[in-house]
Amino acid sequence: MSDPVLLEITDDIAVIAIANPPVNALSHSVRQGLDAAFAEIARRDDVKAAVIYGTDRTFIAGADIREFGKPPQEPFLPDLINRIEACAVPVVAALHGTALGGGLEVALGAHYRIAVPSARFGLPEVTLGILPGAGGTQRLPRLAGVEFALEAITSGRQIGAEEALAAGVIDRISDTADIREMGLSYARELIASGAQPRRTSDIAPEPVSPDVFEQARAKLAKKARGQLAPQNCVKAVEGALSLPFAEGLANERALFQELMESDQRAALIHAFFAERQVAKVPEINGVEPRAISRIGVIGGGTMGAGIAVSALLTGLQVTLIERDAEAVSRAETNVAKILQGSVKRGKLTQEKFDAIMREAFEASAEYATLATADVVIEAVFESMEVKKEVFTKLDAICKPGAVLASNTSYLDVNEIAAMTTRPQDVIGLHFFSPAHVMRLLEIVVADETAPDVTATGFALAKRLKKVAVRAGVCDGFIGNRILSHYRKAGDGAVLAGASPFEVDRALVNFGLAMGPYAVSDLAGLDIGWATRKRLAPTRDPREVYAEFADRLCEAGHFGRKTGKGFYVYDDGGQTPNAEVIDHIAEERAAKGIAAREIPEQEIVDRYMAAMINEAARVVEEGIALRPLDVDVTLLNGYGFPRWRGGPMQYADTVGLEKVLADIERFAQEDDFLWQPAPLLKRLVAEGKTFADLNNA
Ligand code: 3HC
Ligand code: NAI
Repeated sequence: MSDPVLLEITDDIAVIAIANPPVNALSHSVRQGLDAAFAEIARRDDVKAAVIYGTDRTFIAGADIREFGKPPQEPFLPDLINRIEACAVPVVAALHGTALGGGLEVALGAHYRIAVPSARFGLPEVTLGILPGAGGTQRLPRLAGVEFALEAITSGRQIGAEEALAAGVIDRISDTADIREMGLSYARELIASGAQPRRTSDIAPEPVSPDVFEQARAKLAKKARGQLAPQNCVKAVEGALSLPFAEGLANERALFQELMESDQRAALIHAFFAERQVAKVPEINGVEPRAISRIGVIGGGTMGAGIAVSALLTGLQVTLIERDAEAVSRAETNVAKILQGSVKRGKLTQEKFDAIMREAFEASAEYATLATADVVIEAVFESMEVKKEVFTKLDAICKPGAVLASNTSYLDVNEIAAMTTRPQDVIGLHFFSPAHVMRLLEIVVADETAPDVTATGFALAKRLKKVAVRAGVCDGFIGNRILSHYRKAGDGAVLAGASPFEVDRALVNFGLAMGPYAVSDLAGLDIGWATRKRLAPTRDPREVYAEFADRLCEAGHFGRKTGKGFYVYDDGGQTPNAEVIDHIAEERAAKGIAAREIPEQEIVDRYMAAMINEAARVVEEGIALRPLDVDVTLLNGYGFPRWRGGPMQYADTVGLEKVLADIERFAQEDDFLWQPAPLLKRLVAEGKTFADLNNA
């Protein structure tokens, strides 16, 4: 392996190049190399300045996250940065790409910072469940002010070069294309002007009112409910004001260590790697995707319009097909409305909007206009009959090699593919609502789908900035299949004695963005009702079928869109619908169930056990490739709290024995709903975890 840190002395300047691809992370060998370079600089008297830069595509993107959880090895990053800062000659950080986390901390330890205009900066540690642990919470407030630092550190957001310059994070922006040369010329200029080392730790931070910290704490208690890291970030920044530098650093270290040992850190780092691992699908390894520039979308309703916008925003040409002229015009309005929303939020200029509507988008009732599309995504009504009709037409019209995709939520993609003479070109591309916002895309691979069609699905997802998960064919694929099981567990808790409002509250307290009943109100109760009616003929007579949601639908209450569902919606507010309680009481009486009090923890345990149990089946059947694919699905499509890492990571955290014991306990009440998945039983018997399967 080549040397990750290279030191050369040129014109009395020590030039230190970091070469640790792909992102120049501060792995042990890099820390050793930097430490040795600064030791060498200290030994020599012919060095008048030093420059640190990153080779290839970026400066340092942070500590090496893969080393977290392993025994730390010297030199430790905070000590190394102190050593850089203590250097007797001016140290320049020449920045490009992303200077993140420990990377920015190295730059803050340098004495002067120069960057290219495209460089981005940030302390994203909080998104990994930790805090900047190498002086970032102490040096950033000194350079850019406490309020700026608090916001940047607790949000973890990336900051552009202009903003960084204005805030005092960097000293200069330069257009020099050669990063090494950019650093060298700045260093030469500093030597010529007699500039001295300028240590961030020497700056006295500007005092702020204690209210600033109280307000930050209160805001984060709401926005980052249940999370430890943002609160520790506030404490660490507070220390920058109240403590001398060295003590502030020690305080930061202690708060950092506390987070390093937390389950939340393990969960968030699992999420980080799982979202990268999920694209590693053996069947498409080395397979070239088909070219995509023109997309066809069929159906311009909720999903079709969102999918069209998602594609238009990344520069693709979109042809949208609707049933007749009136529906075409409605679809055009839907698309324009969503894009106008982006204009209002400042994400899209009016000129760009006009150009998209004029040049990239067309809507039509003529299927023939799809003849040149590279990928066609069907998003018509969720009816097999309608889908079959559409795919028969597509088979007749689309060019050879076009990818024919369905956005179906539950239906059998093999059956849809069989309507064509080219099942190898047919795939499921299951977007989530709203499709232009939600990051998840399930790529449903049918029996005959060709590997390059699957690869095209993944390439399209990347282009649309979505996280793609490979799924196999079954009712509901990964996410909706698991959802239908944990929803039944929620209904089971209600029949046993909880109210839907208690279930929602327990799960929001657990960390879900919304409770399941509030979510069904938002999605429209008619959607679940239609699915239940479709599946009714195949329902097992042993299933305890909860009817209270059907009662609401029969009364025409479909949730938010009708103003009433599990909740009543008026004046922008939401209150529990008392009618639901009556329906439930009637149903319990009819089923002979004596309601009992269900503690909040039991609600959570039931819900999670059902989710994990069905997820285990989904993995065992190969519907999801690995447990991590389930985690990525639930995290990005179903509002599962990221800081819990996904249901499989959560299961490993609480222990699979506990999950199995819960299932066996609940089975005493309903042994049809609660049948332990064979994979779960096997893992418990073998003393293994889901993580073992991820790493297999
Ligand atoms: N450590 C180890 N590996 C890392 C890494 C890191 N800090 N950052 C990225 N990688 C790996 C990824 O896992 C991926 O590996 P793979 O190819 O085997 O899947 C590879 O580098 C490329 O990463 P991406 O696919 O994410 O590449 P992008 O170009 O899309 O994004 C990036 C680049 C913006 C740098 C993004 O990778 C990123 O955000 N990385 C994490 C940055 C971060 O959180 N830094 C803070 C670390 S914690 C810290 O510094 C603690 C300190 O305060 C003590
Ligand atoms: P929708 O009812 O809002 O839109 C469907 C559109 O398809 C309507 O505008 C209709 O005019 C059009 N259409 C029907 N038949 C057509 C045909 N033969 N040719 C051209 N256009 C036709 O439905 P929605 O919610 O957009 O759902 C569409 C698909 O996406 C369904 O398969 C659904 O299961 C799936 N889906 C829905 C999600 C949601 O949250 N709404 C989430 C993910 C998938």
